[in-house]
Amino acid sequence: MRAVVTGAAGFIGSHLSAHLLASGDTVVGIDSLTNAYDPALKLRNLDELTPHPSFTFHRANLLDADLTALLDGAEVVYHLAGQPGVRRSWGCDFALYTRRNLLVSQVLLEAVRDHPLRKFVYASSSSVYGDAPVFPTAETVCPRPVSPYGVTKLAAEHLCELYRTAHGLPSVSLRLFTVYGPRQRPDMAFARLVAAARSGEPFPLYGDGEQTRDFTYVRDVVTAMRDAACSRFTGVANLGGNRPASMKQAIAAVERVIGPINLDPRPAAPGDARHTGADITLAARAFGYRPRTELFDGLAAMAAHAAPLRRSAFE
Ligand SMILES: NC(=O)c1ccc[n+]([C@@H]2O[C@H](COP(=O)([O-])OP(=O)(O)OC[C@H]3O[C@@H](n4cnc5c(N)ncnc54)[C@H](O)[C@@H]3O)[C@@H](O)[C@H]2O)c1
Repeated sequence: MRAVVTGAAGFIGSHLSAHLLASGDTVVGIDSLTNAYDPALKLRNLDELTPHPSFTFHRANLLDADLTALLDGAEVVYHLAGQPGVRRSWGCDFALYTRRNLLVSQVLLEAVRDHPLRKFVYASSSSVYGDAPVFPTAETVCPRPVSPYGVTKLAAEHLCELYRTAHGLPSVSLRLFTVYGPRQRPDMAFARLVAAARSGEPFPLYGDGEQTRDFTYVRDVVTAMRDAACSRFTGVANLGGNRPASMKQAIAAVERVIGPINLDPRPAAPGDARHTGADITLAARAFGYRPRTELFDGLAAMAAHAAPLRRSAFE
């Protein structure tokens, strides 16, 4: 299949591109390398992709790129480009969130509207649920985001649904639940926990540590994205790890893998949902989704991938 991956230099986009290439697909990767975090990390994410003969990379902002040329011949578009992160979405950064999550999605959906695509796969988020009334949470629960980030992800998801129902675009919105694994974004909890365990620097723990997340390993996520693209399914589906853990349990797991963590307790941050937990029945039925990676194994893979410790860190 000929695939276009937006956000290809990002954490999940680079894993997805590698998985597509390993599956025999041709991949056109697009990314503007925003400075949401160090662009050098994104360039490094591309290292294993760029030598591949079936991979082409375009450094371009989707808002002003020549999308007709970039989408030429595409059979599947995986739309992962965006501005992630809950806490920074309050305040003046919100304009970035609306541009990169909502406007970009609208521009892309317009560009593919009359394109004979096999599938348009959108990386939506568990943040659309906010503080859900039931766990595990099924797609039928009314989404009520508790962060501006969640609002932009939900609005873009609604757009995908609109283009599906009004224009027949075969779109799938996958609600991703806290994705982790090697090359995780440096602002995310596990990347910071691994760094804190290795360096001894304090880890700011927001809230009482009893908040739970449905941590999902990145390989399970990207496998499901391609499986969803190859299936007949359209609409909205959850992708969770199926074994929610509290932050305290996650911290204990990182300590088992690497070593003790120096915690710096802080009040709960506004916008953080108390619990998340996916009902994955629909994804299992629609495209055979089955998360395979245990939290401990996924964390061990993350720790193994992190840069070797400097000598002084052992002393
Ligand atoms: N990581 C998670 O746990 C998680 C959970 C739910 C949903 N998601 C969604 O999955 C997607 C990927 O997340 P990630 O963690 O890999 O983030 P990431 O920041 O590593 O990747 C996103 C990429 O999009 C690129 N980008 C942003 N705006 C762009 C634009 N206008 N044009 C071209 N490129 C642009 C960025 O440079 C970045 O490399 C995001 O849409 C995010 O909202 C992630």
